[in-house]
Amino acid sequence: MNKELLKEVANKMVASGKGILAIDESHGTCEKRFVALNVSFEEKSRQNYRELLVTTKGIEEAVSGYILFDETIRQKTTEGEKFVDILSKKGILSGIKVDKGAKDLALSDGEKVTEGLDGLRERLVEYKELGASFAKWRAVIIIDEQNNLPTNSCIVSNTHALARYAALCQEVGIVPMVEPEILLDGNHSIELCREVSEKTWIELFKQLELLNVYLPGTILKTSMILPGINNKNQASDEIIAKETIESFKKVVPKDLAGIVFLSGGQTAEESTNRLAKMNELYNDLPWPVSFSYGRGIQQPALELWAKDAKKNYKLAQQALLERAIANGRVVK
Ligand code: 13P
Repeated sequence: MNKELLKEVANKMVASGKGILAIDESHGTCEKRFVALNVSFEEKSRQNYRELLVTTKGIEEAVSGYILFDETIRQKTTEGEKFVDILSKKGILSGIKVDKGAKDLALSDGEKVTEGLDGLRERLVEYKELGASFAKWRAVIIIDEQNNLPTNSCIVSNTHALARYAALCQEVGIVPMVEPEILLDGNHSIELCREVSEKTWIELFKQLELLNVYLPGTILKTSMILPGINNKNQASDEIIAKETIESFKKVVPKDLAGIVFLSGGQTAEESTNRLAKMNELYNDLPWPVSFSYGRGIQQPALELWAKDAKKNYKLAQQALLERAIANGRVVK
């Protein structure tokens, strides 16, 4: 394992004032987002939209890396330049989503386990050749109090897979982002979200240690501690910030390279304000705390582009840049 390289890349990903932009929507997710805005889901429109995202001028001021999807890492602009080359010229790292999605967990009542370990070693070698410096694998944890979810089997299966993925990444010199997402759906309390999140993170770091994963060359990408989206008692940004950071202080090893958040269905403003609060309230954390938003940065741009792809092209790029800069500004 090339620890120096892993550490250098991981530190670059969470450099001061910077975070990650996630544009790694699978075909299924991308289709859902396009169809919701009446945009046709065909290769041409996916290429056009992703070209907009990749060619936004000035975004490198706030974004250290883009997470790409298998299609996107191979894609080119209409003028024939590879997306990865455009990013690299701006000093932006390319990342790649390598999991194959959350599938039904066997013998379970509605829980999911993320698949994609078969053949992963070979796929990682190819992605590295295509220009990837880091990777992402997302696991999904559902909170459902009535049905006693999540189960231990779901947490252990998913965190074990995350650790196996992370070890394979590090073997080929790719920084793993390990992403357990505790879903926002439901009406659970913030206390229950904290309990489930801590349990998941504790198990994750146990599994990473078991499989010899090098933490200074690893990034944790996760959800904030929040009440369920349907809970009437929503929490202030300050409470969310404190709950989240206090939990990290309890369970996240100090030598981890950094922590970044997904937006997970929060509005663009909510995801920025809560991240800002964390960075405002805490000065002495062992790890940078930053962003790796998809919808939290893309949504306003996507909506503008969907309304009129030609007329709004530049406006959409401006909206993307504004969201990225707003987030970069709040991280230390
Ligand atoms: P959202 O910020 O839209 O939740 O997406 C980030 C991501 O990469 C989820 O896996």
